[in-house]
Amino acid sequence: MASTRGEFSSRFGFIMAASGSAVGLGNIWGFPTQAAGNGGAAFLAVYLVLAFTLAYPALMAELIIGRHAHSNPVQALRAISRTPLLANIGAAGGMAGLVIASLILSFYAIVAGWMVAFCLASLVGLMGAEEASQWLTAFGLGRNLVFTYLFIALTALIVTAGVKQGIERWSERLMPILIITLLVLIAYVLTLEGATEGLRVYLLPDFSRSLSPDLILRALGAAFFSLSLGVGTMLVYGSYVKDDENLPLLGGVVTLIDISIAVLAGFLIMPAMYVALQNGVEIFGEDGTLISEDTLIFTVLPELFATMGTTGVIVSITFFFLMSIAALTSSISMLEVSVAYATESRGVKRRWAAPLIACGIAAASTLIIFDFSNLFSMVITLTTRYGQPLLGFIFCLYAGWIWQRDGVLQELRKGNPDAEHSLFWKIWPWYVRLVCPTIILCIFAQATLA
Ligand code: PFF
Repeated sequence: MASTRGEFSSRFGFIMAASGSAVGLGNIWGFPTQAAGNGGAAFLAVYLVLAFTLAYPALMAELIIGRHAHSNPVQALRAISRTPLLANIGAAGGMAGLVIASLILSFYAIVAGWMVAFCLASLVGLMGAEEASQWLTAFGLGRNLVFTYLFIALTALIVTAGVKQGIERWSERLMPILIITLLVLIAYVLTLEGATEGLRVYLLPDFSRSLSPDLILRALGAAFFSLSLGVGTMLVYGSYVKDDENLPLLGGVVTLIDISIAVLAGFLIMPAMYVALQNGVEIFGEDGTLISEDTLIFTVLPELFATMGTTGVIVSITFFFLMSIAALTSSISMLEVSVAYATESRGVKRRWAAPLIACGIAAASTLIIFDFSNLFSMVITLTTRYGQPLLGFIFCLYAGWIWQRDGVLQELRKGNPDAEHSLFWKIWPWYVRLVCPTIILCIFAQATLA
């Protein structure tokens, strides 16, 4: 069966694809402002500890199940179940994962479309097409629809080309570009006046906040979203990994890249905000806290770029290009979850499955765009606050309780004959059985009660 499916041709290919899924708008946009508003370096410390001790084990649960079953989440959870009832519950969980992944893509593509539009706006602005530039940056129905469709089409194009020729090839090209672009931007911004103040705010630890339960749960939620957990993307990518690869090592590298880029992004965004302040741009909201989320990206940063003359235009193009790439490598992983299911379990050819599912997702995005004020935040809350933690919980239960311990060990031995003597094997099974589900339940309870 494995031979008829796609497979990553190299370790590098998998690492680029999986870290491409993980590194997205959440890292570059979400993490730095959350850190800044929640105790700076103290948030960073909590985030690092949680990412390695909890998100990493949950990521491993998905990767190991996926690699063992060499199939999509629906079939994979069925395959490791011991009774028909558990198999059906697992399959339902896998199905829910496909739906949540598609819904995440439906709002993610809208935001990604804005990134592409802002990148183009600076480009056409440079050529003197002011009117076009204004259309591209103004929040309008036409602009939103065109760029969402464009972005989904781009995503579908890559996924249609297949695991090796599409996902792996493009992740291998785009991820190094993303990392280099990020480093160049950081180096540039750090030379500007006001940047050190931003660094100080980012790195100044306020430990009185880091111990609050709310902050810990928030950091964990951020880590789960950032590592693309709970919706089967990592399970599907794990299913394309060759049997002789050492999975705990690969998962560790992906986690490390994801965290490093989130932390690095802080070295760009925070100094940039304080450079903006220096240049007369307002960076604090009415309540005195730092402006974040959409206002930060689409108002504060463009205002900053505008104060920088022609250099600002180049920086703006580079920045929004960076954001577009980050979003694209994440969105292909979201689409691949459903495409893997349609091709393997429903016998639909990839060249039909990817465009058809993409059309369905575009339809969902259209609905959101038409009723933006109600649907946009509702879909985000539903999928990332409720869907991801709850499904992550199911994956951990299946890896920890439903799947027999022997089966898990055998899977790990494929890539590491000494697996049972490893530190990973001494700790991970308990984590995934007890610690991860308990903590995920806490996030879920908090999200429900909040
Ligand atoms: N990890 C992505 C980010 O940080 O932007 C978001 C994401 C990708 C969430 C893929 C879920 C997913 F399935």
